Amino acid sequence: MSKYFTEIKELPPDPLFGLKARYVADKRTDKVDLGIGAYRDNNGKPWILPAVRKAERKLIDSEGYNHEYLSISGYEPFLEQSAKVILGEDSQAIQQGAVVSQQSLSGTGALHLAAAFLKQFYAGTHTIYLSKPTWANHNQIFSSVGFKVDSYPYWDAKNKKLDLEGYLATIKSAPRGSIFVLHACAHNPTGLDPTAQEWTQILQTIADHDHLPLFDSAYQGFASGDLNKDAAPIREAIKAGTISSPILICQSFAKNVGMYGERVGAIHVVLPLSENASTRDPLKKAIKSQLNKLTRSEFSNPPAYGAKIVATILTDNELRKQWQEDLITMSSRIISMRKELKRQLEELGTPGTWDHITNQTGMFSFTGLSADMVARLEKNHGVYLVSSGRASVAGLNEHNVSKVAKAFDEVIRHFAKSKL
Ligand code: LMR
Repeated sequence: MSKYFTEIKELPPDPLFGLKARYVADKRTDKVDLGIGAYRDNNGKPWILPAVRKAERKLIDSEGYNHEYLSISGYEPFLEQSAKVILGEDSQAIQQGAVVSQQSLSGTGALHLAAAFLKQFYAGTHTIYLSKPTWANHNQIFSSVGFKVDSYPYWDAKNKKLDLEGYLATIKSAPRGSIFVLHACAHNPTGLDPTAQEWTQILQTIADHDHLPLFDSAYQGFASGDLNKDAAPIREAIKAGTISSPILICQSFAKNVGMYGERVGAIHVVLPLSENASTRDPLKKAIKSQLNKLTRSEFSNPPAYGAKIVATILTDNELRKQWQEDLITMSSRIISMRKELKRQLEELGTPGTWDHITNQTGMFSFTGLSADMVARLEKNHGVYLVSSGRASVAGLNEHNVSKVAKAFDEVIRHFAKSKL
């Protein structure tokens, strides 16, 4: 045995990418991938958005197109536009110059930058509160930089609804100045978002207890097809003016522009509007310089291609219109697949209730299937889901939905019988 690295233990594969690898290796021709959150068209194929195709052509043909380094902060037109997409064209925070934006390696990179930045500079409590359950990667992103990770109740499994009471109670009992990671929309994995009224209560309680909200926005436009609607909680948090801490936003364009592998994203630090410009401006410069240092020491400067595509879409009226149509194409196909799966399960008389499938929103449905059921689905039917029972509804289509409904029916009945 080597005398070096004696403490290294082999880890199990990543839950999502490990699942993807098993799916790829599966030889069954009728296998179905409801695992990783990536949009598929009605033939189960990856979809290059028409807006992206057009933007790629426009960009490549444009004068001065090149593959030079970006600045450490990223592509300026992208930074400006991405802040407007998430905060709104008429954002007061942007108008007042209260926003520091930095390009990131998609949403994960934005979260990592946020974690590293907060760990070093946040004077509040270094405990991160994540929803229970949450996206598997959240935990290790924050724990790997030394944060204490805790959780707030979110999914009430018994009633398949939001545990608002538990959520608010944890906000109240957490040490003042804790950090709360909030899913801006299309909660991953449950597909369950608070209502507008519930958001108001959540944000007010966070404000009352001096916590710092960190929004993870990976699905803007996917929940409702409407970019503004899906950003509403973030905009409310800023506008209400009740939150006295800075607000951090980690923004991904992987899903809503379908550029998963290009790693397009940003972190936006929104400083309190109550602070006056004379104190805010030097602080903004300091924050920017520290984000630059983190970026430079970790990956030097961000990748250019995806950011240029997104900026091309956002600065061209025609392409932007096309993108908004593309978002509707994706979100409405997912909504129709939710309805179809529910309809077929009800038609089969599958034990249980299935309203939650259509009540949930975004890419995922928290089906309520147990880990045993999920394992049987994979082994006996070639239907791949995360063990938590989360299904990526984007993997359903007209050709495989009845196979999936029948497979769900079989595994549910199998375990119901074995309990008797
Ligand atoms: C997912 O949850 O499936 C996606 O966000 C993909 C990923 O990176 O985990």
